[in-house]
Amino acid sequence: MKISIIGAGNVGATAAKTIADRNLVNEIALLDVIEGVARGKALDIAQSASIAGFDTVLYGSADYGDTAGSDLVIVTAGMARKPGMSRNDLAHCNAKIVRSAVTEAVRHSPGCVVLMVTNPLDVMAHVALRETGFPRERIIGMAGLLDTSRFKLFIARELGINPREVDALVLGGHGDLMVPCVSLASARGKPLSGLLPAETIDALVKRTRDGGAEIVNLLKTGSAYYAPGESIAEMVEAMVKDHGRPLPCTAYLEGEYGLDGVYCGVPCVLGPAGLSRIVELPLSERDRQALHASADSVKEQYALLLKTMDEES
Ligand code: LAC
Repeated sequence: MKISIIGAGNVGATAAKTIADRNLVNEIALLDVIEGVARGKALDIAQSASIAGFDTVLYGSADYGDTAGSDLVIVTAGMARKPGMSRNDLAHCNAKIVRSAVTEAVRHSPGCVVLMVTNPLDVMAHVALRETGFPRERIIGMAGLLDTSRFKLFIARELGINPREVDALVLGGHGDLMVPCVSLASARGKPLSGLLPAETIDALVKRTRDGGAEIVNLLKTGSAYYAPGESIAEMVEAMVKDHGRPLPCTAYLEGEYGLDGVYCGVPCVLGPAGLSRIVELPLSERDRQALHASADSVKEQYALLLKTMDEES
């Protein structure tokens, strides 16, 4: 299996390292418009192989020809947020980057699956769907795992336990209206609502929703990359191993959860061909309404972007 990662910034390079460490694929091409950065980071990661114990071959390039024959193309290229910005503020600028990245990549790997990571994630996935004309199975996005992992950490810290003892799920768009599902959250098998007061849970939900911005504000330049990189690798592992366990991912909905024609975070089973199926969980009325509000906002943002793009062309 060959993977290409478009964008050798912090997220792209960390994903390359994490995927290599898991020894999941034969080959990773790291591509960036700044050739030296792509080649330098790929070489640096490759130099860890004998210590880390992976067999994956890595190389960096600025030439899309080197991505040819990829089974999976991971798109991380684009601007990251600056403090005070929302992910949607990036839509216009990143749409141009994503359109050209996807067009070029797909020209060389017409049978690939695209895993979108660039923000605003859900909208960029939709841009890629439109640009490629691929079926929805082959354009998916990474966000739900990251948001869920943040929610689990905050719950675990509050309870003084290990994040792996927490069960939780964040659905919806990867934006300010994402839906940390309180009704589905539990720790050591006990429902969260019985373990913490409502105000504390509300604060954990809010911190999860603001989880990306919290890091942007601390870093001052750039956004999160370690947990995003790990989340990408987890999705790649699900595809490669075809293990059948649902993971929260961004997928194009066609009626699931009562939503249609929108990218949104939902539990997905992944496989070598991308999205195998969407799992429909029963949600509390509150979570269902929140999911719809989040999806509506993604739809609005996408429509707004299309309008601006059409006006320009
Ligand atoms: C985050 C950004 C990268 O959530 O979307 O960290």
